[in-house]
Amino acid sequence: MRATDWPAARGLLIDRRRLLGVLAATGAAVRPGAPNAACRAPSLAALAAEKGLMFGMALTREQVREAPPLVAVALAQAAMLVPGNELKWVRAEPEPGQFDFADADALVDLAHAHGLLSRGHALVWHEALPAWMGPGLTRAEAGAALSRHIKTLCSRYAGRMHSWDVVNEAIEPSGAGPLRRTPFLAALGEDYIARAFALAAEADPDAILTLNEYDLERDTEWQARRRAAMLDLLNRLVRRRVPVRALGVQGHLDPAKGRFDPEVFRGFIRAVASLGLSVFITELDITDRTLPGAVVARDRAAAEETRAYLAAALAEPAVRLVVTWGVSDAYSWVDGNPRTRRTDGLTSRPHLYDAAFRPKPLRAAVAEALRSAPARGIAR
Ligand code: G3I
Repeated sequence: MRATDWPAARGLLIDRRRLLGVLAATGAAVRPGAPNAACRAPSLAALAAEKGLMFGMALTREQVREAPPLVAVALAQAAMLVPGNELKWVRAEPEPGQFDFADADALVDLAHAHGLLSRGHALVWHEALPAWMGPGLTRAEAGAALSRHIKTLCSRYAGRMHSWDVVNEAIEPSGAGPLRRTPFLAALGEDYIARAFALAAEADPDAILTLNEYDLERDTEWQARRRAAMLDLLNRLVRRRVPVRALGVQGHLDPAKGRFDPEVFRGFIRAVASLGLSVFITELDITDRTLPGAVVARDRAAAEETRAYLAAALAEPAVRLVVTWGVSDAYSWVDGNPRTRRTDGLTSRPHLYDAAFRPKPLRAAVAEALRSAPARGIAR
């Protein structure tokens, strides 16, 4: 089905004329007919597609309401839009059996109205849960809630999602076992993971089903334990023929979390690929809390860290998708989290575009990593 077949976004469709006008207002200097660097500079989506990769950006309904220039950048640069919060349980099913898809629909429709793909984040996660989806559920109640939630969401968007983060952040090897103690694990045991994938596969058989995780890339003892726990879990799931098709590596970079050794990360990606799985970089951004305060030096350091990370990831043919967890420094989760915000009070600069929606060295670094990546076969 062509993108133009999708229903127009509910009041969110930005017509091309307005899009160009907004881009021009943001200094992107894209004016109809006028040759200029921005017109000639290939989009990140185009750079990715040349190598058989896909590039996407996450954004939220709030950003679409408040920041047309941000939307203009995302529509111009990405081949995929990811709803940052709107498909989380607390937003999609705030009360048992009562679903609210207005914001998610708007973002999925916006993507498809402009010929972009979508991916769903996240069907099962221990955060962003409504109060009623808590630890007190019986096995039967949790099983019924899981089934209703996944069937409803995946059926609604069946055929319109490139992929789903079916389970997000399932491992936590510091605890009693390798898995995170969540309400789902407490009520259903490890089988909640296989059940979630089976439900998603039945309701949306064409989507690539993904297990999504963070802190898998650094050369530290802690992240080595996380990589081992993830590989062990994936091995068990693949042996049981659970329909997991990709590992999502979130890619929330933070130099403070330890040394990055490209070969360690590449070896992990190859181990995942040996199970027949693809690897998606699903939430790329950078926490700059330990980088210099001065903007020029900070941006340069962040760009180099990100370029090195992506160069390592994209050297592996199993990596097929890169999604940035946002567009502009005007909106980011980083400063809202005491574990990631800077201690000097300066605003973090985690994204490819600054708060005035101008490209930063980080964008150039991502573009360079895409340009230098070896070509893949046809991306799915
Ligand atoms: O929309 C409400 C607003 O109405 C209210 O006034 C405000 C204050 O309570 O909250 C707003 O909702 C917030 C929402 O972001 C939208 O800004 C939630 O409280 C806040 O918890 C939520 O944070 C999100 C977080 O996940 C938790 O869901 C971040 O935006 C989002 O970037 C972050 O993304 C996660 C990925 O899903 C999983 N991987 C890690 C990543 C970063 O934490």
